[in-house]
Amino acid sequence: MRLQARGVRTLQEDGNCILVLDQTQLPQKVVFARLTDVQTVAAAIRDMQVRGAPLIGATAAYGVAMGLAADNSDTSLQHILDVLAATRPTAVNLHWALECMRQTVCSLEPACRADAAWLEARRIADEDATANALIGKHGLELMRAHANGSRDIQVMTHCNAGRLATVEHGTALAVVYAAQYAGMPVHVWVSETRPRNQGLLTAWELAEAGVPHTLIADNAAGLLMMQARVDLVIVGADRVAANGDTANKVGTYLKALAAKAHGIPFYVAAPISSFDLNCPSGTGIQIEERMSAELTGATTAVFNPAFDVTPAELVSGFITERGVFAPYQIAPQAALWKA
Ligand code: MRU
Repeated sequence: MRLQARGVRTLQEDGNCILVLDQTQLPQKVVFARLTDVQTVAAAIRDMQVRGAPLIGATAAYGVAMGLAADNSDTSLQHILDVLAATRPTAVNLHWALECMRQTVCSLEPACRADAAWLEARRIADEDATANALIGKHGLELMRAHANGSRDIQVMTHCNAGRLATVEHGTALAVVYAAQYAGMPVHVWVSETRPRNQGLLTAWELAEAGVPHTLIADNAAGLLMMQARVDLVIVGADRVAANGDTANKVGTYLKALAAKAHGIPFYVAAPISSFDLNCPSGTGIQIEERMSAELTGATTAVFNPAFDVTPAELVSGFITERGVFAPYQIAPQAALWKA
């Protein structure tokens, strides 16, 4: 039985610990890793057993709860937050989740902190699943608007913004799943996503869900757009600045440029936890640089940024749990979201 068909989440509670689907083992093996404390949670995020902005945030939240179960002092709380915050810099969901956890527990009696933290982590995880289901619902309207009656709607995505990257449903792929569920014929162009090949994760989960898809090398995206074989591009986000500039997996920017050149709509699907309204523009987003060994076979100097920033003017709209917004609407809407 397939994981998706069984509704198995990528992150599950297991007593006082959590189980996470180990993404470093996919697509060859489906293995759940048991994370038991702050150290195992931090390592799982840093080493990308757990990856994707929303899932990183939820996993870190449980890490705080497990850390407080071991030591609920103020000093320990700060240490736990520091250790987890240092794992990956770009995905704002991590820092958002840690701030939710800090606010939940900091003014409580130490003895009450671990239980309150566990409940808050559960709330963050459940909220992610709910938000992503709504992203699918709002995105479905867009899909209908872009549907070409004579053939399958052709969606291009990048990296993995699917259920593997979230607690449930995915963001960009939540839209695809909603379309499939609604009976709309859909085909997904999946870019390989060098150097970590998250596209293979996307292909794996689309295959599990029975969604027609085709894997391409990253460099093939422009040709497909030029040949009018892409109706719209939908990607996820690791951090959206207040002006709509969007950090996502490296290579996203090139897809956005190509889409603009060919008049193809380019959408970012992201929960509100991915919006960093304290960051005015993309220049303020820290881009994670990862180890040179990820570029396999390289025997020369290596620059390996994990993300890039797509300027807001290249984004047709943001598909969120609150609806679809143009980049210029982000800042005014934010006041409502935060109210
Ligand atoms: O380095 P990763 O694999 O964690 O990067 C993931 C991405 O860039 C995703 O596109 C993004 O987190 C959105 S996931 C819903």
